[in-house]
Amino acid sequence: MIVLDRENRIFTLHTLNTTYQMKADQYNVLLHTYYGSRIDGCDLSALIQCGDRSFTPNPNEAGSNRNYSLDVMPQEYSTCGVGDFRSPSVELELKNGSHTVDLRYKGFRLEKGKCPSEGLPGFYGTEDDAETLVILLKDAAAQVEIELHYGIFENYDLITRAVRVVNQGTDEIRLCQCASLCLDFLRDDMDLLTFNARHLMERCPDRGPLRPGILSVGSVRGISSHQHNPFVILCDHDADEDKGMCYGAMLLYSGNFEAAVECSQFENSRLVMGIHPYHFCWTLEPRQAFTAPEAAMVCSPDGFGQMSCQYHRAVRKHLLRDPYHGRQKPVLVNNWEAAYFDFNADRLIDIAREAAALGIGLFVMDDGWFGTRNDDNSGLGDWQVNMEKLPGGLEDLALHIKNLGMKFGIWMEPEMVNENSHLYRAHPDWVLHVPGRAPSRGRGQLVLDFSRRDVRDYIYEQMKAILSGADISYLKWDMNRSLTDVWSAGLSAQRQGEVYHRYVLGVYDLLERLRHDYPHVLIEGCCGGGGRFDGGMLYYTPQIWCSDDTDAIDRLRIQYGTSFCYPACTVGAHVSAVPNEQNGRVTPLNTRGITAMNGAFGYEMDLGRCTMEEKNEIRRQVKNYKIHYDLLHYGDYYRLSSPYQDTAYTAWEQVSPDQREALVNVVFGCADTVPLFCTLRLKGLDPALQYQVDGTDSFYSGKALMNAGYPLPSVQGDYTALQIYLRAAG
Ligand code: DGJ
Repeated sequence: MIVLDRENRIFTLHTLNTTYQMKADQYNVLLHTYYGSRIDGCDLSALIQCGDRSFTPNPNEAGSNRNYSLDVMPQEYSTCGVGDFRSPSVELELKNGSHTVDLRYKGFRLEKGKCPSEGLPGFYGTEDDAETLVILLKDAAAQVEIELHYGIFENYDLITRAVRVVNQGTDEIRLCQCASLCLDFLRDDMDLLTFNARHLMERCPDRGPLRPGILSVGSVRGISSHQHNPFVILCDHDADEDKGMCYGAMLLYSGNFEAAVECSQFENSRLVMGIHPYHFCWTLEPRQAFTAPEAAMVCSPDGFGQMSCQYHRAVRKHLLRDPYHGRQKPVLVNNWEAAYFDFNADRLIDIAREAAALGIGLFVMDDGWFGTRNDDNSGLGDWQVNMEKLPGGLEDLALHIKNLGMKFGIWMEPEMVNENSHLYRAHPDWVLHVPGRAPSRGRGQLVLDFSRRDVRDYIYEQMKAILSGADISYLKWDMNRSLTDVWSAGLSAQRQGEVYHRYVLGVYDLLERLRHDYPHVLIEGCCGGGGRFDGGMLYYTPQIWCSDDTDAIDRLRIQYGTSFCYPACTVGAHVSAVPNEQNGRVTPLNTRGITAMNGAFGYEMDLGRCTMEEKNEIRRQVKNYKIHYDLLHYGDYYRLSSPYQDTAYTAWEQVSPDQREALVNVVFGCADTVPLFCTLRLKGLDPALQYQVDGTDSFYSGKALMNAGYPLPSVQGDYTALQIYLRAAG
């Protein structure tokens, strides 16, 4: 709900549990007055205290009033060069060389519903479930208007932010920074949580207190990256899953980004999040506009659990555009870890036949089916089927798969090219490269310049020929290196600072075209696993391969970190063979199944090599997954323990929205000869209901399960697991 106090120029955004407020003051500076637990009917600007502080300048119109300084007061969208020395949100270069930005309130407008900005990903909502407030700020001297967009999704405690900069002058200007979100706090006694690490170990949480100066994470790799995720949390020092104030900030962007938190001299703090300023410079001709990617905030006064649930619900309902909306997605089998590049049609059909017999509904042919792609040094860019491997072509293979009662999917890596390819030999100038320098390779490949429309159009025609030439209902869009040598022949020297962002816009453009032309095709995002697991990609690819690490025990950690912002239905997760291909670990099949069910479920192994006992277990898992599909995909998700802190076991739980069903999942650690007796306290149940355990005659009340707990059995062997189904009696 948006509450406007026109007389006092106060803008209050209420969600179910939170309130966000700003106010245009006597000098038309837009102040941020409050964000936190819901408070109705208040002007919270009284919280802001001013006083004469040396070395904090006073705006000219404040005259002799030395108590008023931008450097002291919480700003809604921070400026630069006019007295606020903390992190700026925006920086411009004018024709005269000036870099100062001074923004003053001009007005506002309300819009019905909430639409994503054109060409960019974003949360969407109708007028029944979302509202939009646009606040207009102006730098009169620079003739620049800045629109601050706020989308309010009341039921989810979610507020989106976006920023549009319009050049209203007669000279061109250069935009050197344009953050999506600025969030000032009248406190700095908080922790910052970020989600980091590397390929094969993505999104590990890291938590630490704010400290004087700037703490920041980001990416200059051209992708959101395996190393740091564009999602951060600020929270009370003692916040945990169930209590404490938490502020989540998610950037819906798949390229270079930065999230920086600065503590000021007066022990206030500021989060600025958006496109990374590194090598960003966008020229705006007169009347042109630039829109920064969207950010989405969830504030939870009740800990991380509530924050995650709200993100999950909002992402599922208002961000994903899933061709399977309201229907079960098929369980898939992918041939990558089964065969890598070494396959032919017969081998693939064998895997598919085994899979079909186990209830698996989608066969995905991974890398290696095109051009001369027999290893990862050649073939990328030549999207023609390799007739030696698949003599009947894609159409024939797809038909075989269809006759087995399965759907057919393929892998592509549209943004890349190998030097050993027809495409590269014909168009060596189409790759990102700096004139006079030989470009760096990554996985032996170069990056196509997706900032160029002609390059994208060519690739799109190739993709269309593939997708229209056979019955294909799934596409895995992969991307296997970071960007280097970022320079485009399509832009002038002055505009080279636009290439990184135009590249991301190019990726979004192609994905949107695919969605439009092939609405029935489910696109799974992938970037060497989880190198582009972000809200931007999720708008186009409703599931993302979470990590190239398929070891169930490592996955506990990766999926735990991922769950803070992203719902399980978006997390591509597969059961693979043991010893695991990445680390050699051996885990029970049941454990691998339970862990992968905490995501968009599938298999990635040669099912023909499984024993009868293993096949029976897989058949049971697939059946179980289908039975509990809604609970797993749409239930509220609770982390019951942390794989980083608890070594005895890792546990999580899904609870149906009506609280009548729950699945409790536990994966134990290494075997303990004298194990401790453990009791697991559950969450999210109805205290008044009696829950039946796994259809047995064992019943517990919700109150008992949440307060006293459920007794975990003692187990034998390493990494065993159990899944318990609870159903309310009556
Ligand atoms: C990286 C992906 O993450 C893998 O799943 C697989 O598709 C390979 N690329 C294929 O090259």
